[in-house]
Amino acid sequence: MRSEKWAAAMLLLQLCFAGCGFCGKVLVWPCDMSHWLNLKIVLEELTKKGHEVTVLVSSQSFLIDYSKPSAINFEVLPGSLDRETYLRQLNSFLDLAVNVMPTLSRLQSAKKLQEFMAEVTVRHKVFCESVTSNHSLMMKLQETKYDVMVIDPALPCGELVAEWLALPFVYTLRLSMGGTLEKYCGQLPSPPSYVPVPMGELTDRMTFMEKMKNMLLKRVKNMLLTFFFDIWIKQYDNWLWDQFYSEVLGRPTTLCEIMGKAEIWLIRTYWDFEFPRPYLPNFEFVGGLHCNHSKPLPKEMEEFVQSSGEDGIVVFSLGSMVKNLTDEKANIIASALAQIPQKVLWRYKGNKPAALGANTRLYDWIPQNDLLGHPKTKAFITHGGTNGIYEAIYHGVPMVGIPMFADQPDNIAHMKAKGAAVDVNMNTMTSADLLNALKTVINEPSYKENAMRLSSIHHDQPVKPLDRAVFWIEFVMRHKGAKHLRVAAHDLTWFQYHSLDVIGFLLACIISAMFLVTKCCLFFYKKFHKTEKKKKRE
Ligand SMILES: *[C@@H]1O[C@H](CO)[C@@H](O)[C@H](O)[C@H]1NC(C)=O
Ligand SMILES: *[C@@H]1O[C@H](CO)[C@@H](O)[C@H](O)[C@H]1NC(C)=O
Ligand SMILES: *[C@@H]1O[C@H](CO)[C@@H](O)[C@H](O)[C@H]1NC(C)=O
Repeated sequence: MRSEKWAAAMLLLQLCFAGCGFCGKVLVWPCDMSHWLNLKIVLEELTKKGHEVTVLVSSQSFLIDYSKPSAINFEVLPGSLDRETYLRQLNSFLDLAVNVMPTLSRLQSAKKLQEFMAEVTVRHKVFCESVTSNHSLMMKLQETKYDVMVIDPALPCGELVAEWLALPFVYTLRLSMGGTLEKYCGQLPSPPSYVPVPMGELTDRMTFMEKMKNMLLKRVKNMLLTFFFDIWIKQYDNWLWDQFYSEVLGRPTTLCEIMGKAEIWLIRTYWDFEFPRPYLPNFEFVGGLHCNHSKPLPKEMEEFVQSSGEDGIVVFSLGSMVKNLTDEKANIIASALAQIPQKVLWRYKGNKPAALGANTRLYDWIPQNDLLGHPKTKAFITHGGTNGIYEAIYHGVPMVGIPMFADQPDNIAHMKAKGAAVDVNMNTMTSADLLNALKTVINEPSYKENAMRLSSIHHDQPVKPLDRAVFWIEFVMRHKGAKHLRVAAHDLTWFQYHSLDVIGFLLACIISAMFLVTKCCLFFYKKFHKTEKKKKRE
C-alpha cells in the first residue's frame, strides 16, 4: 500500500517536471510587427517546456495581442501614444512607404525614411525613459529574479533593462541597419571584400570590374556603404543613447558596450538564405524556426484550389502590414494576374480592382503556410519579408518579389542570386513585367529546382532551428551566461583589433635594424677606406 503511494507520488513528481530539468523565468523585450510573430513561436515553446515567460509590452502594440488569454504573461506598460493615434501613424507610414516613396527620387525617399525613423526613435526613447524611471516596475522585475532576458534589438532599451537588472540576455534579430550592431557591438567579422553590407542588395560575388545597374562598381559600393552606415549609426548612437545609458546606469558607457554583452545572438536566417561568411561561436542561425508542415485548407478554399486542375495556383501576399494600394497599382497587378492560366489567391483588403480576373480571388487573410505547402502551388508573389520567404523555402516554392522597404529588397536579392526568385519593381512595373516574371518562375524549371534545393538544405539540419533557439536560451539560464563563447575582440581597442600596434612595433624594429646595419656598414667602410689610404701612402 505504502509503496503504491510512493510510486504515485513519484509519478506525479515526474509529470510535474516532465521535459523540464530546469524551469526558469524568462523576461522578454519584444519588437512589434512581423518580428513578434517569429519570437512568439520561441516563447510558446519555452512555456511548453515549463518556463515562465513574461513579456514587457507597450499598451500601444499592434500585433502583440496582450489581452488574449495565453500561456505567456504580459506586463503592460503605458505607451507614449494612445493606440488609435499609434495605428493612424503606422498606417500613414505604410501608405508613404508603399504608395508615395516609390514615386520620389532615391534621395528624397531616404530623407523621408530617415525623418520617420527619427520620429519613431525619439518616441521610443520617451518610452524607454518611462520604463527605466518607473521605480515600482523595476523593483518588481528585480524581485521576481528572472534567469534570462530575450531581447529584440530592433530598437534599443531592452539591454539597458537587462544590465540594470544584472541579467544575462539573448538577442533575436534578422539584421540591424547596415549590419553595424552585429559587426561593432557583436564583433562579427565582416570583410567588405566578400561580405555584402546588408541592405545594399549585393551578393558575395563582387567582381571589381562588374558593373551595377547604376554603373557604380560593386565592391566600391560595398565599401562606401560600409563607411556610410558606420558614420550614420555612430552619430545616431552618440546623439541619442550613449548619454542616456550612462545616466541610467550611473557610469560612463555606450549603447554598443552594453549591446556587446549579449550572450547569444540568434539570427533569423540560415545558410539556405545567407551567403557563406565568417561567424562567431555565440552567433546561432535559426532562420525558418516558425515554419511547419501545412495543414488542410478551409473547405471553400480547398475547392477553389482544386478547381485549378493541372495549372495549379499562385499565392499572393504583400504581408500583414500593407492593406491597400492605389487603384492604379491594384489594377496593373490584377490585369497581369488575369492573364495566367493559374488560379490566384490574393491577400488584399483594399477596394476590389476593376481589372480583377475570374481566376483571382481576394481574401482578407490567407493561411499562407498551408497554401505554400499545398501540392498545387506553383509560385508565391511576395513583398519579401523574412517570414514569408522562409515559408517558401521550407516548402520549395519559387518566388516573384515585389520588395518595398526595410530588408525586403535585400531579401529578394538573396533569393534572386540563388536562382529561386525574380524581382519586379513596385514603382515602375507594368502588367507585362509582372506577367513575364510570373511566367518565368512558373515555366522555367530551374526556378523550381533551385527552390527545392534550398528546401532540402533547410530540412537537412542536425537540430531543428526552433530547438536550437530554445536550447541556447536554456543554456544561458542553466549556466548564467555563455561567456566561454565570447571572443576577446570585445576587450581590444580598434588599433589592437587590426594589430596596428604590432605592425607599428615590427616596423619600428625593422627600421631600427636597418638603421643599425647602415651605420655599421658606413663605419666599417670608412675604417676600411682609411686603412687602404694608409697602405697606399706607405
Ligand atoms: C509603472 O509600471 C506599472 C506596471 O508595473 C504601470 O502600471 C504603471 O502605470 C507605470 N507607471 C508609469 C508612471 O509609467
Ligand atoms: C507544428 O504544428 C504542430 C501541430 O500540427 C504543432 O504541435 C507544433 O507546435 C508546430 N510547430 C511550430 C514550429 O509551430
Ligand atoms: C489607404 O488607406 C488609408 C486608411 O485607410 C488611407 O488613408 C489612404 O489614403 C489609402 N491609400 C490609398 C492609396 O488608397
